[in-house]
Amino acid sequence: MQLSSLVLAGVMLVRPPWPIAAQPAEYSKRLAPFVPSPQPIVEKMLDAARVKPGELVYDLGSGDGRVVITAAKHFKARSVGVEISPELVKSSQEWIKREGLEEQCKVIHGDLREVDLSDADVVILYLLTSTNELLRPKLEKTLKPGARVVAHDFEIREWNPSRVVQAEAHGRVHSIYVYEMPVRK
Ligand SMILES: C[S@@+](CC[C@H](N)C(=O)[O-])C[C@H]1O[C@@H](n2cnc3c(N)ncnc32)[C@H](O)[C@@H]1O
Repeated sequence: MQLSSLVLAGVMLVRPPWPIAAQPAEYSKRLAPFVPSPQPIVEKMLDAARVKPGELVYDLGSGDGRVVITAAKHFKARSVGVEISPELVKSSQEWIKREGLEEQCKVIHGDLREVDLSDADVVILYLLTSTNELLRPKLEKTLKPGARVVAHDFEIREWNPSRVVQAEAHGRVHSIYVYEMPVRK
């Protein structure tokens, strides 16, 4: 191969000659990939949080809606999911409708960093350690005393869990960390 062809190949590797399609704005806000919690783990998380009927449960990054739907259907809670992907929001809203849970349960399209959590009794997180780290100051500032935060697989650094539950699903052991917000001094 001639030297000029080698240089061209190098330039193409760095910058392709065709226009790069614009990425939807939500990609830059995506803080974790969509990996659904296995259904038995969803139930274990809500059990571990001791969700009571009428309590308000948030799932930050609600994926296909399975956590909010299970909270409403099996725990008789009110539940709110927040999800950045419009496709997942649409499919979870359709699922909620099919289940007839619109009165108890909703999924909003938005960035989980921007949601007001001051009325939450339980917050569910299946995100990354770095995302939990980002959220920690907001949780400390806005959650009411006694609110519970449940983190699937990724701990919240610098917090001490009041309970850790381990359960097997889909061929591996999942860890569920439960934190309780202390009374503010
Ligand atoms: C690991 S999945 C968890 C899904 C669900 N909570 C569960 O346990 O099955 C993380 C979800 O967070 C969503 N997500 C990532 N960044 C987000 C953001 N900034 N705001 C809202 N949702 C986000 C992803 O699209 C994905 O659906």
